[in-house]
Amino acid sequence: MQSAGRQPRLRLLVLGGTGFVSGAVAAEAVTRGHDVTCVARGTGTPPPEGARLFRADRNEPAALAGLKDSRFDAAVETATLALPWVGDALRTLAADHWTFVSSISVYADTWTPGQTAHSGRLRPALPSDTARYDPERDPEPSQARYGGVKVACERLIGEATDDRALIVRPGLLVGPGDDVSPFGYWPVRMARGATAAVPPAVSADGVPLPAQCLDVRDLAAWIVDGAEERTAGTFDAAGPPLALPTLLQEIAEAVGAPTLETVEVPEETLHEAGVNPWTGPGSLPLWPPRALYGVLSRDVSASLAAGLRARPIGETAGDVLRDRLERGAGKGLAAGLTPVAEASLLHLLGY
Ligand SMILES: NC(=O)c1ccc[n+]([C@@H]2O[C@H](COP(=O)([O-])OP(=O)(O)OC[C@H]3O[C@@H](n4cnc5c(N)ncnc54)[C@H](OP(=O)(O)O)[C@@H]3O)[C@@H](O)[C@H]2O)c1
Repeated sequence: MQSAGRQPRLRLLVLGGTGFVSGAVAAEAVTRGHDVTCVARGTGTPPPEGARLFRADRNEPAALAGLKDSRFDAAVETATLALPWVGDALRTLAADHWTFVSSISVYADTWTPGQTAHSGRLRPALPSDTARYDPERDPEPSQARYGGVKVACERLIGEATDDRALIVRPGLLVGPGDDVSPFGYWPVRMARGATAAVPPAVSADGVPLPAQCLDVRDLAAWIVDGAEERTAGTFDAAGPPLALPTLLQEIAEAVGAPTLETVEVPEETLHEAGVNPWTGPGSLPLWPPRALYGVLSRDVSASLAAGLRARPIGETAGDVLRDRLERGAGKGLAAGLTPVAEASLLHLLGY
């Protein structure tokens, strides 16, 4: 075996490998010198250079049969809403270690701050959700379905591996290549300078607004660490919880134009103006609805103790800005206010 740093070279299977999360995992593993096979239809972005692509449509029967006789040191399953895919992978593939990319949406209580991966109730598992996921028919699955299927997948993987799998539950993932998350609005907005409308520091009833996110590359590094070290256990995958103004200030310090001035818009004004919370067109991105306060203030000390390293937000902001400018991404404003909408909001406050 060749050596990837101090680690032996792993035969690593990434179920996915061409998307935002799974592509980052494959890229990190290739960088470390591992022998990486990705499984995808290959319809969009190619896998990272140096990884091989096993083309398969996992909605087809026996999609993974061509890998039946291969042996992998580790497999990383990134299936989103496809319990049948996970079952098929566990039955067909031989891997010494499994990682499952689950989601923070498994938790039933999204309101209470300070919870850990083991302190809260999970949503009811949906082991009977055997539908092959079709994003065209169900583009925005309910949190109950999304979380419930993830819980069922986690259990399937736990049973198949005698609980020796690594299960990671990401919250908001950010970084270059992401065109949809609410984070991406801010580096571009702060870099434009002038007067920027930002969410307030506290809610209308005086509660500090939370923020929590993780650079997808830090998640990928942690997952590859886990494969190398055969880590077992269930962890949240999120950076340390922050106050929202702190996060926005770190972005502004990293990328803000010299002319930048920020104006906190009170929640009452945001509601009056019809601004949407959190994400999507017409939103003030990252302004959290009360139902997300718990999801954005998780106690991730166990994850950090288990090796998760979260880079400074400013570093991510700089990379996101460069990436968006280079690709001309975000022109359609997946999340955020148009300059006109922002100006009329500021006008309400006398600016
Ligand atoms: N993004 C976040 O903020 C976030 C947060 C929490 C949890 N997560 C979880 O992270 C995981 C990855 O999320 P993501 O949205 O970024 O996905 P992704 O990594 O973009 O992965 C999607 C992958 O699945 C492949 N794929 C799709 N349909 C397929 C099919 N029919 N057969 C075979 N391969 C198929 C895609 O490649 P092809 O299209 O080429 O087939 C792609 O490689 C998901 O489980 C998600 O629940 C993400």
